[in-house]
Amino acid sequence: MMRKTTTEQTISVQEAIESRRSIRKFIQQPIDQQHLQNIFELVQLSPSAWNLQPWRFHVVTDVNLKKKLEEAAYGQKQVTSAPAVIVVTSDMEDVLTNIGDTVHPGLSEEQKQEEVANLSAFFNGMSVEDRGQWGLNQTNIAFGILMTAVQGYGYASNPMLGFDQDKVRDLLNLPKYVQFAGILPIGKPDDEGYPHHRFTLEKIVKFH
Ligand SMILES: Cc1cc2nc3c(=O)[nH]c(=O)nc-3n(C[C@H](O)[C@H](O)[C@H](O)COP(=O)(O)O)c2cc1C
Repeated sequence: MMRKTTTEQTISVQEAIESRRSIRKFIQQPIDQQHLQNIFELVQLSPSAWNLQPWRFHVVTDVNLKKKLEEAAYGQKQVTSAPAVIVVTSDMEDVLTNIGDTVHPGLSEEQKQEEVANLSAFFNGMSVEDRGQWGLNQTNIAFGILMTAVQGYGYASNPMLGFDQDKVRDLLNLPKYVQFAGILPIGKPDDEGYPHHRFTLEKIVKFH
């Protein structure tokens, strides 16, 4: 399928990665719905093992719900400052219930059945918790791409894991097995954030 191109002014991947900093104060202006659509069309293309795509996104713009999310995030003010907060969840149980949906449509019926049988056998041999963690490893890839896509469309964000997961599960009516990659307040920045502080390449990269 050819994806539609966009006429929006965007920045390069390099610029998006370089300019991203955690921003915790936002301009009070709603996010353009079309931009959100474009961002999720990019995130949708994230890779995952066996193409299982366990990521699910909840976009919270309701003021009262954001207040409750902020309370669940120990009062971190960026949650209500942001015009939208994206809660990034991972739902492997939904993936497994609908496992046939993940199989590539180009395969023959026989190949599809074989793939479904293989995947089911593999995951049925794991606990719900272990396969939840397996799914979360995939969802974290999409979380990273989400941050870059948000930046690419001229918005800023702050990845967050500092929140009470059970409280956020309750707020969004999510089952216990759903895991969180994090929450991501997004909006136009009203702050510069902190300059990058990173380990040296010598420390983190080895050439063999
Ligand atoms: C998974 C994850 C969870 C984080 N949780 C929080 C958080 O709860 N609150 C917060 O203020 N920043 C949080 N951060 C932001 C980090 O502190 C920040 O990314 C790091 O210091 C590097 O700074 P930079 O994002 O400006 O490059 C989190 C970042 C990641 C990737």
